[in-house]
Amino acid sequence: MKIVLGVSGSIAAYKSPDLVRRLRELGHEVRVVMSRGGISFVTPLTLQAVSGYPVVYDLLDPAHEAGMGHIELARWADLILIAPASANLISRLAAGSAEDLLSAIVLATEKPIMLAPGMNRLMWANPFVQRNIAALSAAGIDILTPGSGAQACGEVGLGRMPEPLEIRDHVTAFFQRSATDAAFDSRAEIEVEMVDGADEIDDENSEPQGALIGKRVVITAGPTVEEIDPVRYISNYSSGKMGYALAQVAQRLGAEVTLISGPVAIAPPAGVETIAIKSAEEMMQAVERACQGADLFIAAAAVADYRVADRALEKIKKSDDQDELILKLTKNPDILATIAKGEARPTLCIGFAAETNNIEENAKSKLRRKNVDMICLNDVSGGKVFGAAENEMLLFKRDGSVTPIAKADKAIVAEKIFEEIINLFPAKFWC
Ligand code: PMT
Repeated sequence: MKIVLGVSGSIAAYKSPDLVRRLRELGHEVRVVMSRGGISFVTPLTLQAVSGYPVVYDLLDPAHEAGMGHIELARWADLILIAPASANLISRLAAGSAEDLLSAIVLATEKPIMLAPGMNRLMWANPFVQRNIAALSAAGIDILTPGSGAQACGEVGLGRMPEPLEIRDHVTAFFQRSATDAAFDSRAEIEVEMVDGADEIDDENSEPQGALIGKRVVITAGPTVEEIDPVRYISNYSSGKMGYALAQVAQRLGAEVTLISGPVAIAPPAGVETIAIKSAEEMMQAVERACQGADLFIAAAAVADYRVADRALEKIKKSDDQDELILKLTKNPDILATIAKGEARPTLCIGFAAETNNIEENAKSKLRRKNVDMICLNDVSGGKVFGAAENEMLLFKRDGSVTPIAKADKAIVAEKIFEEIINLFPAKFWC
């Protein structure tokens, strides 16, 4: 495929030559466009050497505009990938600015755009940056979640550009999804052509893109946060990636989606109503409201089973003569079981099981105990899955069948889960 790689002014630009190499290894053609800031971190000559094409950065360069100018580049690409995307570039894109070549290409394209942000952790957390990210995401731009860890500035936190291999996997997943969508679209076209001879339509293959048009889907994602006092809490490592990927697929299939999410650092999928909650009790209330009249409920959140019984109203003080502090916990509501056993049960209720031992037995037991139609089992032993870009699963269904999903980007896993879910709906559901 043809990729325009934008490189803007972030220290992570030193990884861009490696990214070009990784993309070319898979046969992609890469043309690099740099911002002025990008040039300060890595030379155009390096990127020219690894991409095999001249690198461009001037909007008003007559030689360039006479050849492969900004409009031609915007048309040429199958994907515009910007890695790293600095806070400054993100702000220019969100403002619709065309003051440099890279932002002009973004304005002049109808092609998909993907950003891999890279910046200091406080810049990433800044509300103005998050507002810009949310605006770009709402406009359909695919934003990769930055990584967490030691940063070039010496600080530690969320904001590192994802590694070149991770970006390459995301690009691969994107092209795989586009190919699947194209296949769905062409199948839908064939079905439209066959409508006159309606008897000939093959029912087995009649779940194209848009299978969930007119249906309401509720999805939980991320962790819950259970406060101990005003400054401390109990939580877990869920990043929300799995639940958000499911919400994105449901939205692409035409459903009206409500995503109920604990605190995460990723942008909500475009076109999805997202309700932010903190605690399990808040999630319970939001889910009960959203599930009224819903067709499908998917519980992908990692909900805390217990909360602190007596949350302190003031910060708990350390005492010199107290070596131990005992926190009393009380059980949280089981959101999935409450909905799946309730009177307003959606047609299908799907649960997840995050297990470290006896994983299959525990998953089967949850399928029965929680009264759900399918359990998506992930093995989270050794810290796997939480926060990762990829996942692998076993799907346990009520009829005793088990479907494996091989390790893949969570976006791909989410698509495969939906293929199973669509087959689980009873025939009358489609009438
Ligand atoms: O967010 P990511 O970083 O992408 O990671 C994805 C994930 C590991 C969080 C996800 O794939 C996953 O497994 N989510 C469920 C985690 C979990 O809490 O599993 P559980 O086995 O404790 O709970 C079983 C099911 O009951 C889950 O569907 C859970 O959402 C639900 N539950 C659990 C407790 C509770 N009080 N209420 C619930 O609804």
